Amino acid sequence: MEKINIGPNTFVYPNPVTLLGTNVEGRANFMPLGWVSRVNADPPFLGVGVNKVHHTLRGILENKTFSVNFPRADMVEATDYCGLVSGKTTDKSKVFEIFYGELKTAPMITECSLSLECKLVDRVDLQTNIFFIGEIIASYTEEKYLTDGKLDIRKMNPLLLTMPDNCFWKVGNYVGKAWNIGNKFKKEKR
Ligand SMILES: Cc1cc2nc3c(=O)[nH]c(=O)nc-3n(C[C@H](O)[C@H](O)[C@H](O)COP(=O)(O)O)c2cc1C
Repeated sequence: MEKINIGPNTFVYPNPVTLLGTNVEGRANFMPLGWVSRVNADPPFLGVGVNKVHHTLRGILENKTFSVNFPRADMVEATDYCGLVSGKTTDKSKVFEIFYGELKTAPMITECSLSLECKLVDRVDLQTNIFFIGEIIASYTEEKYLTDGKLDIRKMNPLLLTMPDNCFWKVGNYVGKAWNIGNKFKKEKR
């Protein structure tokens, strides 16, 4: 088996597709965000990588709050639209129905299956991007996206992103239970 090196500009495979919500000078703005991850267990911290050129950056710095919203696959066109235009020149505040939570300045999207309301706790300034770390202070969903009180990915029907081919995908098949299916392998190895 011969491995080939495809170079360093490679991405996490796949990324979730989310919409990063901010208020910029009092107006809600949303940008698609693939570079997002949970980065601390307790307190629950989330990291987001935002390019310094984006309008969104101003909102995070202005209010020290932001939201991360998970669009359903059927919201793909409106989601992509938010990545084609900037809040600098286009008002994106009416693209979705908006609600606010405890922090009052992190706009969230009613149509999304899940919205995480975050308070800024730290930042790492990199060359092109700023990595913002936020504490999740509340998560909003609806009963229809839950099974036995837990979020159900089949009901959420989220979008995935691959880069650098820049494609949207839906979630595929269930494979097994994490922290569990490996037990069989563990027993056989001994
Ligand atoms: C699917 C998708 C994912 C994206 N992910 C990111 C990302 O993780 N970080 C980033 O800085 N820009 C990302 N972008 C680019 C911004 O969303 C885009 O430039 C947007 O228009 C910026 O909006 P704003 O200027 O109103 O903030 C992504 C774009 C798309 C279409």
